[in-house]
Amino acid sequence: MISLAKTPGRDFIVLNLSDPQLGNGEWESGHRNRRILTETVDILLERVRPDLITVSGDLSWAGDDDAYDAFAAFLESKNIPWTVVWGNHDNQNGPETVERVVTRYLTLPHFLYERGPAEIGNGNFVIRIEEDGKPVEGLIMMDSHDRAPYTAPDGNTTEAWAKLTPPQLAWYREQIAALEEAGCHDSTIITHIPIYAYREASAAAFRAGCDKKAVEPQHSQASYGWNHGYESSFGVEWEGISSYPADEGALDAILESGSTKHVLVGHDHVNNTVIAWRGVILAFSLKAGPGCYWDPRLNGGTVLTVTSDGMAGFRHEYVDPTPWLA
Ligand SMILES: [Fe+2]
Repeated sequence: MISLAKTPGRDFIVLNLSDPQLGNGEWESGHRNRRILTETVDILLERVRPDLITVSGDLSWAGDDDAYDAFAAFLESKNIPWTVVWGNHDNQNGPETVERVVTRYLTLPHFLYERGPAEIGNGNFVIRIEEDGKPVEGLIMMDSHDRAPYTAPDGNTTEAWAKLTPPQLAWYREQIAALEEAGCHDSTIITHIPIYAYREASAAAFRAGCDKKAVEPQHSQASYGWNHGYESSFGVEWEGISSYPADEGALDAILESGSTKHVLVGHDHVNNTVIAWRGVILAFSLKAGPGCYWDPRLNGGTVLTVTSDGMAGFRHEYVDPTPWLA
């Protein structure tokens, strides 16, 4: 178990970076994409001054060891604790490739991580944020794997985006029980691939027929005309939601827990909606930098504010990359 201390009377701030995903070549000195990512993170750190940095997956492309090391060296140089969940690209060459990175990362003084039970994935673990020795928030870090077979109603089986598995949800229930036992009644799941409920939340919140591309991200809360009951939603959905195509039961487990009120994912680089669905905030992180694919209007990080009562909420911190685009 990993514990971090929150200072009484002051919020504990988490900065989440998502899908940085530069390859080996892009980390070379003078490369435009390296500059955009590192300048973006530097500005975020200056603005946000986090107590912890989380990365919601796809640090690089599996096998690009130099890129994994370059990203880690960059974060290490900030002298702030940091942690990760692995994304589909990190996972796509199998657990041995992830383990190769883990072995190196665990030598780094600021890297927080536990391997967790190997049979449920790479890196399922909990970070407790404690105030005066009492946990006020559990960050439940969950591996969403890479691909999983899906059989459509017509009988056709394809390799779909993966999901949280039943043994993993059983593990999740155990972690919630342990948090409750310790007196902690609030938790947040951080994972990479959205759970199925993100599709339901989107269908409920967006006004039917609205032009999802017509709204500027920073004005999204006021501009979309969200459906009644969803006016607190914000963020844009500029691409389809890449979850597993069928309900994996994650939201049911979350609702049953009564503990988890926030979920944060990455994976969809040009989605950053934050929607309350059945009492749970389902959020896409803002993406950091141009790795893989991006929209420069959706560049930055997502800030998680933890108070003495647990997670207070999420906000996106946008960084305009225009100065470095030339
Ligand atoms: Fe991804």
